[in-house]
Order: sequence, then C-alpha cells, then structure tokens
Amino acid sequence: MSKKIVVITGSPRKKGNSFAMTEAFIRAAEAKGHIVTRFDAALKNAGGCRACETCFKTGKPCSFDDDFNTIAPAIQEADAVVFSMPVYWYSIPAQIKGVIDRLFSFVVGGKDISGKEYATILCCEEKDLTVFDGVRMPLERSAALLKWKLAGEVLVPGVLNIGDIEKTDGCRQAAALAEKF
Ligand SMILES: Cc1cc2nc3c(=O)[nH]c(=O)nc-3n(C[C@H](O)[C@H](O)[C@H](O)COP(=O)(O)O)c2cc1C
Repeated sequence: MSKKIVVITGSPRKKGNSFAMTEAFIRAAEAKGHIVTRFDAALKNAGGCRACETCFKTGKPCSFDDDFNTIAPAIQEADAVVFSMPVYWYSIPAQIKGVIDRLFSFVVGGKDISGKEYATILCCEEKDLTVFDGVRMPLERSAALLKWKLAGEVLVPGVLNIGDIEKTDGCRQAAALAEKF
C-alpha cells in the first residue's frame, strides 16, 4: 500500500552523512510506491515555538508564518514521519528541533495527528550507541504522547566527516528502512 511519508532532516550539510542516508531511504521508499515529501529544516527558515498558543487561529498552523507552515499540511496528512539527523551535543540539532517543537501547533489547534508511524535515521562521530539516547528518548516520549508507533531506527555511529558514511552500511540500512513501511 502506498503511504504518504514526510522526511524531515536536520543537517546543514548537503553532502553529509545523514543526507546520504536520507537519499538512500527516499530512493527505496519511492521505488516501493510511497509518496515522499522532504523538508530540509536546516536549509529552510523554520524557527522554534513561540508558545503563543494561537495555532490555527489565524487560518495557518503557526501564526509566525515561516517555512514550518509549508510542511505542516504534509505532516498532518502523512501516514509516517521520518526524522533524519546527526547528533549535536548528545541531542537534537536546533534546526530540526524547531520543527519538532512546532508539532505542538497540532495539539493546541485540536488537530488529531495520532496513529502515524515514525522512524529515525541518525548518525554521530562517537562509536558508542548510547550517544543516540539524547535524540531517541525525546522522540520516543513525544511519539508516545502523540500515539505514533516506531517503524524502525537506523543508528550509525563512528561517522564524522563528509563521505564517512560510505565506509559503513548506513545507506544500505536506510534503504532497508523503506521495507518497514
Ligand atoms: C555542532 C556539532 C555537535 C556535534 N556533537 C556531537 C556529539 O555530541 N556526539 C557525537 O558523536 N558527534 C557529534 N557531532 C558530530 C556529528 O554528529 C557527525 O559529524 C555527523 O556525521 C554529522 O552528520 P552530517 O554529515 O549528516 O551533518 C557534532 C557535530 C557538530 C557540527
């Protein structure tokens, strides 16, 4: 069954490790017939939540009308959301965190976005898998609150520089993630 999948990325490096995995995932997902909408948060203008709680009251998801409003309808409609990012300081990069924070607009706006699947594509320099905890845990808790179900995770430690991902099976794992939808 063809699904609508939104892929949100968090790296500013167009040729970086998480983008390479993202592209492998998207190729595989589209080959399976899924409809993918991609949002590169770090290359867009999408800031954090201002907590004004006027979401959807002006006719737009967020009253602060930046690029978040261009992806919000696709997120609302999506069957699945894939979060792809590097670890920054044991946590979620600021650029994508702004988009995640603004999922709050659906909650405040009374929009039912429950029942989606989500997945992660993550990479980091260090070789220790626990480095991913600071990304995985908040996503897991947020997903539980939103009633989203984890479809799969790609966790690739030990990659620092652009191109390092090619020395791993990260892109193969990211392509295989498409099989989970
Ligand atoms: C601001 C910043 C903070 C980082 N913090 C961590 C970290 O806490 N742990 C780690 O293992 N790698 C850290 N890294 C390394 C990146 O996770 C790593 O280089 C990754 O492969 C980058 O992915 P990208 O090529 O998709 O941007 C950091 C990199 C930057 C730029």
